[in-house]
Amino acid sequence: MSRPAPLTRWWTSALHAGYTGLARPVMFRYGGGDPEAIHDQLVPALGSLPAPAARALRTVLAPPWDPVRISGLTFPNPVGLAAGLDKDARAPLAWSALGFGFAEFGTVTPRPQKGNPSPRLFRLVDDRALINRMGFNNEGSAALANRLTMLGVERGNGVLGIPVGVSIGRNKLTANENAIDDYSRALRNVAPVADYVAINVSSPNTPGLRDLQSRRALEELFSELDEVRRDIHHQDPVPIWVKVAPELSWAELDDVVAAAEACGIDAIIATNTTLARTRADGGPLRSAKAAETGGLSGAPVTLKARQVVDYLARNTRLPIIGSGGVMSPADALALREAGASLVQLYTGFIYSGPALVRGVAAALAGAPLPTRSQEH
Ligand SMILES: Cc1cc2nc3c(=O)[nH]c(=O)nc-3n(C[C@H](O)[C@H](O)[C@H](O)COP(=O)(O)O)c2cc1C
Repeated sequence: MSRPAPLTRWWTSALHAGYTGLARPVMFRYGGGDPEAIHDQLVPALGSLPAPAARALRTVLAPPWDPVRISGLTFPNPVGLAAGLDKDARAPLAWSALGFGFAEFGTVTPRPQKGNPSPRLFRLVDDRALINRMGFNNEGSAALANRLTMLGVERGNGVLGIPVGVSIGRNKLTANENAIDDYSRALRNVAPVADYVAINVSSPNTPGLRDLQSRRALEELFSELDEVRRDIHHQDPVPIWVKVAPELSWAELDDVVAAAEACGIDAIIATNTTLARTRADGGPLRSAKAAETGGLSGAPVTLKARQVVDYLARNTRLPIIGSGGVMSPADALALREAGASLVQLYTGFIYSGPALVRGVAAALAGAPLPTRSQEH
């Protein structure tokens, strides 16, 4: 791990202290403590930042740049915004300004949908975790594509300064037998604005969705999506990544790998949120909210995500993107050592703010890349 310069370290600590000491307490109390209330204020507020302000913020917060190349894309740093934080791309310019090296919007579905009734997002502060059962609330894949198009985003043109990923899923009311149609429609909508498209078959909050992770279902889905992407961009089809659940057994992960490799999938994101309710050490969660239904993220997932990344890294040459419980630079470094080329943050970003993006980027700068996924 390269050691950041003293001034860089001082600035990261100051940012961390400012966020955890000032901003976070206010944010966590806002709206009577309902996490969705502050989220619904902050993301559009970030989206209304004028471009010069976003550029200035990017200069102030700038993490070390240490480009990583996978899926034919160059990531200025390996720290991504995980799917779900900016589902409808309301603040596209903010994420590079906050130091991220890529941003994954979505998950979007072909038709807009409201998601589950509120409350549906819970903070488990004592466990440094969140539980959510949002249920793919989103304005639809066409609306997302329109919003990005209005900003001048086109696949490959780099208008946001970082690669743009879009995560797609099926609508709640679509049966799994018809899921391929939903994914195909969403892929057609978002392919013109996405540098990569992530296939979400691992959210625990859409009934039956995770059944699409069986080998047969994945092979059918992937081969259809491969045809669709080749139909859209004949010579240079958009990279497709798939995101898996942390609960898959090793045998089930073997199936995902086999299907992904057979159908030309470009990378695997490991992992989504978990239905488990234990701490990393196996003990019970401490927070009263632990009994809420939904997907658990944050510190309790750190070890599980690392184990899945490690297993995948030993069983495929596809690049792996580590997602789950990156709460500190050391967690990110451990994911890299387990085999992740890139990492994504959600819950850690909520608890530690932009200092975590900087800290993780600094920790990964110069850390060896997994040899199997390097491009030359
Ligand atoms: C409120 C919330 C909403 C999420 N929505 C999505 C989503 O729409 N699509 C998706 O692929 N993952 C979604 N996720 C999962 C995250 O992208 C990430 O994989 C997971 O939270 C583990 O990372 P973390 O521990 O850093 O949060 C969501 C997570 C949270 C907390």
